[in-house]
Amino acid sequence: MITVVGSANVDVIAEAEIFPVQGETVRGKSFQTAPGGKGANQAVACAKLGETVQLIGSIGSDEFGQTILANLRNQKVGTAYIYQTDGPSGVAVILLTEEDNRIISIPGANHALKPERIKELLDVIRNSQLVMIQLELPKSVVWQVLKLCKQFQVPVVMDPAPSGSFQLDFMPYLTYLTPNETECAAIFGASMEEAAEKYPNQLLVTLGSKGVCYHDGERLIHVDAVPAKVIDTTGAGDTFNGALASQLVRQCDLQQAIQFANAAASLSIEKFGAQGGMPSRQEVLRKIEEMNNA
Ligand code: RIB
Repeated sequence: MITVVGSANVDVIAEAEIFPVQGETVRGKSFQTAPGGKGANQAVACAKLGETVQLIGSIGSDEFGQTILANLRNQKVGTAYIYQTDGPSGVAVILLTEEDNRIISIPGANHALKPERIKELLDVIRNSQLVMIQLELPKSVVWQVLKLCKQFQVPVVMDPAPSGSFQLDFMPYLTYLTPNETECAAIFGASMEEAAEKYPNQLLVTLGSKGVCYHDGERLIHVDAVPAKVIDTTGAGDTFNGALASQLVRQCDLQQAIQFANAAASLSIEKFGAQGGMPSRQEVLRKIEEMNNA
């Protein structure tokens, strides 16, 4: 069982040809809402790949809360530890162009999750094969999860987003940290190569279309991305993390797990929405076979 501790949002998405600059209004192409939140996305990515997965998180008492819950159940994510609190659910406002996205995330209920709740779930954490966590939750909750995982020797994959909430003190508690290039620079204030060398086989830097880099203790390893026809990059990192976790609990070697996760992330960006393009295990394996035969 994989346990994800994280946020669940409704994404409010405005698509345009270009991003507006400061003070500018641009004409949009479309407007949609879709399920999101890094925690929910990562849990759904795992479920789509055939893993048994549960999400520990919090939803609001509004209509969005029920939408989030229904989607998680539909996607076969365990929801026994999703708590409902008074007030609004998490919402992310996403500006989307063909090249990229910009996200403002309003935590709402995600920040109502308390460390006491995590303490009550001691057995849930203890019985997990792996725990995934991101930083759209209160820091006290993150610490509580990390301490329990350390105590019970449960491996942890942390996606340090938003990176402003990251603390270097987290490092000894993490099995893997998966920042993107920008997050890596913000967190370590060093070049990617230097940071990776300092944390061998622990720091996996995702570089979008340039793949993933990590240090294996002897040298820098670069795992290529899989080319994709980009529709929407939202959730690519979440798909990567979910697929990585899925391979890790299947005892896959790190480099091969990253190759699989890269293929999953590339498939995810060929469809709209953070969760809309998340692939099944068969789809990822087919993609890898295509790549190998090309
Ligand atoms: O990683 C993408 C996610 O970040 C979006 O779904 C949005 O909800 C924000 O949390």
